[in-house]
Amino acid sequence: MFRRVASVLFVLGAMTLIAFAQQHPTTQPVEPADNSYCLTCHINFQREKLAVHHQKAGVGCTNCHGASDKHSSDEDGITPPDVMFAKDRITTACASCHKSDVLEKDNAHTPLLTGKSAEPLKYCTDCHGKHQMAHRTRRWDKVTRKLVSDDGVRMLNQSELTK
Ligand code: HEC
Ligand code: HEC
Ligand code: HEC
Ligand code: HEC
Repeated sequence: MFRRVASVLFVLGAMTLIAFAQQHPTTQPVEPADNSYCLTCHINFQREKLAVHHQKAGVGCTNCHGASDKHSSDEDGITPPDVMFAKDRITTACASCHKSDVLEKDNAHTPLLTGKSAEPLKYCTDCHGKHQMAHRTRRWDKVTRKLVSDDGVRMLNQSELTK
């Protein structure tokens, strides 16, 4: 008896799932990415276009910069994030998701795709978003990851000051 009830319940369950799947076909929107962890320190990126457009499409800070756990938990802020982008690596990184046949549709991309331009070469982030910080308190070499300059102020000191 128990077995029969169990199998009826199983079939009902399966039917509910199928009905659910039919009501929610593949047009279901993607789950937005959760950037809140990074934004606790990087609040200036909350409304920044490149971050926001991608966040809505499920591509969060960590999809591009890596999980960066050590960076995020270093209160002195001297550990770099897992992935940084030297200028000459930006285009390749973006192109891993944005294929040139799509980019070809917009004339603005012609110089970039053909390598022919009278102007100095622009990178994707020169035209898309404002994904740079106006003021830096520390800098890492984006390739070797070494801390190259630092104002000496530590996060802990800053929170002491606001007490
Ligand atoms: C505890 C605070 C804190 C958290 C949390 C944090 N960051 Fe940072 N991050 C910093 C500081 C401080 C800097 C240096 C900023 C400066 O120069 O003023 C920085 C710089 C960066 C940079 C610039 C690297 C470069 O190219 O020079 C990236 C990228 C970055 N963070 C990504 C992230 C990501 C992704 C997360 C979430 C996983 C995150 N951060 C979470 C404090 C934090
Ligand atoms: C689609 C990929 C992508 C996403 C998503 C993304 N970033 Fe970036 N990020 C980049 C690239 C590429 C650069 C280098 C930009 C440049 O030099 O013009 C960069 C640079 C940075 C920098 C360094 C800016 C500077 O002045 O040197 C910080 C800080 C940063 N990102 C933080 C974040 C945070 C925080 C998020 C999430 C809210 C985020 N990024 C989401 C690709 C991304
Ligand atoms: C992990 C994959 C991924 C990477 C890497 C990536 N993107 Fe995207 N991007 C997406 C997705 C998904 C969308 C939303 C769907 C679409 O419009 O194609 C999007 C949308 C966009 C849009 C359109 C936003 C709008 O106006 O609707 C631009 C512009 C863009 N990305 C630029 C960039 C640039 C610049 C980089 C490199 C810094 C980059 N992307 C890296 C996946 C990615
Ligand atoms: C010289 C400026 C410039 C550069 C450099 C540039 N773009 Fe664009 N891009 C534009 C303009 C202008 C548009 C059309 C208006 C818009 O959607 O912002 C566009 C549109 C887009 C779109 C939306 C396409 C669509 O129809 O949905 C994506 C995605 C995109 N660019 C990605 C990139 C990527 C990735 C790079 C680097 C490989 C890049 N762009 C470099 C100016 C530029």
